Amino acid sequence: MKKVNIRNFKKTLSKFTTGITVVCVKNNNKIYGKTVNSFNSLSLNPPMVLFSLGNYSSSINQFSKTKFLSINILSSKQKKLSDNFASTAPNLDDIKFIEGKNKTVVIPNCIANLECELMNKIKRGDHIIFICKILELQSNDKLKPLVYFNSKYF
Ligand SMILES: Cc1cc2nc3c(=O)[nH]c(=O)nc-3n(C[C@H](O)[C@H](O)[C@H](O)COP(=O)(O)O)c2cc1C
Repeated sequence: MKKVNIRNFKKTLSKFTTGITVVCVKNNNKIYGKTVNSFNSLSLNPPMVLFSLGNYSSSINQFSKTKFLSINILSSKQKKLSDNFASTAPNLDDIKFIEGKNKTVVIPNCIANLECELMNKIKRGDHIIFICKILELQSNDKLKPLVYFNSKYF
């Protein structure tokens, strides 16, 4: 075993295979989205999920002050969306967001979408954990997931 530093921590964690989500909020008629793979299920009853966002993120204030948000699980055809929402100023022009029932916006053609209510925020280290209750959801059995492993898409 080796002593931990940022480099070997990132490299080691990159061996954990994940899907990719884009989390979205709409505040004052403006949409904000971030690519996030720290998404996970938390509770069955009530149905809750969580993800974490760096407190250094340009969008952290938008996510911190929201009550509702969407979590969009990307399909294998949405690699460009993942790259787009990992940038500080994503291009939203070509995305036909769908208005959700709960003051959220969801991304079309995803493998799954969750409309959520933000229940708790927990600050730990340089990230904030967002705990969300699921209000509405949908999934598509015909699409394949976008998979992330070793800092690469599969
Ligand atoms: C595949 C992938 C997964 C990511 N997952 C997370 C995550 O779970 N939490 C996080 O804070 N940032 C994550 N990021 C980084 C953010 O998407 C974004 O690049 C970062 O917050 C810097 O941009 P910003 O300062 O404009 O927010 C991920 C990026 C990629 C490409």
